[in-house]
Amino acid sequence: MKFFIDTADIAQIREAVSWGICDGVTTNPSLVAKTKKPLAQVIEEITSVVDGPISIEVTALDFEGMMSEARRIAAIKSNVVVKIPLTKAGIQATKACSDAGIKTNVTLCFSAAQARLAAKAGATYISPFIGRLDDVANEGMQIIEDITTIYGNYGFDTQVLVASVRHPIHVVQAARLGADVCTVPFDVLDKLFLHPLTDIGLAKFMEDWKKVPT
Ligand code: E4P
Repeated sequence: MKFFIDTADIAQIREAVSWGICDGVTTNPSLVAKTKKPLAQVIEEITSVVDGPISIEVTALDFEGMMSEARRIAAIKSNVVVKIPLTKAGIQATKACSDAGIKTNVTLCFSAAQARLAAKAGATYISPFIGRLDDVANEGMQIIEDITTIYGNYGFDTQVLVASVRHPIHVVQAARLGADVCTVPFDVLDKLFLHPLTDIGLAKFMEDWKKVPT
């Protein structure tokens, strides 16, 4: 399972890349707004440090608007992926992008039925939002299981990108279900390293090491 970092913050992206475990980046309009920088600057910063897939979301709501943004976004660099919301216009744009060889990440997916539409339209990635489903007392991970089963049944190439991840257990569950990608906020990525027994074990090794004669 690949790890993407779910942020538009260049300092966080740089740090995750330095750890050697970051395969790509996902952004959305809210994450870009948090940086307080213009989108062009955010894209310039991220593309200068990340070679893997970088998702940039369209903000038009109609098909024509989405397509004109999609063409502009896709032309930035070959690793830039066009993020498109799962609406009727979005699925139509996903199909048109797929026909034109433009990579897409279909976002705001909350059901296996929606994920089925995205795959049919030729999406490169589908992004089911697990945490937001958990927030409304739905079992978010259940749709990951359903989607991986459905895609497997029909041999769809669309990659399952688990999004709206809130804690390390989501990451473990996503991997157990065979998701292709998990996009993880910086704080959760950071928590993946933690285990008290690692700290205790290392402290003991270092203490014992001092007793080894030189
Ligand atoms: C996905 O690509 C989205 O950017 C993101 O995972 C949404 O997460 P949130 O529900 O924590 O905002």
